[in-house]
Amino acid sequence: MYIYMHNETATGVTNDLAAVRALLDKHAHPALLLVDGVSSICALDFRMDEWGVDVALTGSQKALSMPTGMGIVCASPRALEASKTARSVRVFFDWKDYLRFYDMGTYWPYTPSIQLLYGLRTALDLIFEEGLDNVVRRHNRLGTATRLAVEAWGLSNCCQKEEWFSDTVTAVVVPPNIDSAEVVRHAWKRYNLSLGLGLNKVAGKVFRIGHLGNLNELQLLGCLSGVEMVLKDVGYPVKLGSGVAAAAAYLSNSTPLIPSRI
Ligand SMILES: Cc1ncc(COP(=O)(O)O)c(C=O)c1O
Repeated sequence: MYIYMHNETATGVTNDLAAVRALLDKHAHPALLLVDGVSSICALDFRMDEWGVDVALTGSQKALSMPTGMGIVCASPRALEASKTARSVRVFFDWKDYLRFYDMGTYWPYTPSIQLLYGLRTALDLIFEEGLDNVVRRHNRLGTATRLAVEAWGLSNCCQKEEWFSDTVTAVVVPPNIDSAEVVRHAWKRYNLSLGLGLNKVAGKVFRIGHLGNLNELQLLGCLSGVEMVLKDVGYPVKLGSGVAAAAAYLSNSTPLIPSRI
């Protein structure tokens, strides 16, 4: 089994799944392709069938904008077949139990979290009402606007190649004299703004701006203006409004009319 991360949440990198599939095919590799789509599915372009993904998984807490607590798994016929002879130890997440109950109708082998299932219904209704393609486009706009703001602040993206830029999260590298954890702490304490910490190798070096889920252009601009104030407070010489202006200039040209209000 080959396990691949579609979107790397810690560094804001989106991997090219189509290329991974092509590589496996080129070598006629028999591995099953399992994709961690926790910070991509329902926000980035993801094509389970076209890319020959065998198992895709996500969580309720990211692009679905729900509380934490629900894992969502989708398996291909090939993966279901392979699971019949797989010898790995399984207990709670044994598909066999779920599939047996599905055959009987909408039943579950264990007590389901009904409130999360209602939440999922609503989250999907919102996504389908907007249209999945439009959701992906909106994330691209939000990602682009964030990157323009970062550039205007004179800071750099932790992701070094444009083709890997993530449209769901941007990890911003701070100058060496600034501790990025302090940026995150200060944002929380003074402006009630939640930024992401840098993790492991990039701890103290980057902070993260999440831009996924039920988020619109104006909410993002509010976040970007908060980041500017935080940067100024921690001693980074930022011109207030510079990132917001760059993002707003782009968004005012690219944001479409809301379809249901045309
Ligand atoms: C890409 C990715 N995979 C896995 C996880 C882990 O999810 P969980 O904390 O729900 O186990 C995260 C959490 O942020 C993530 O971003």
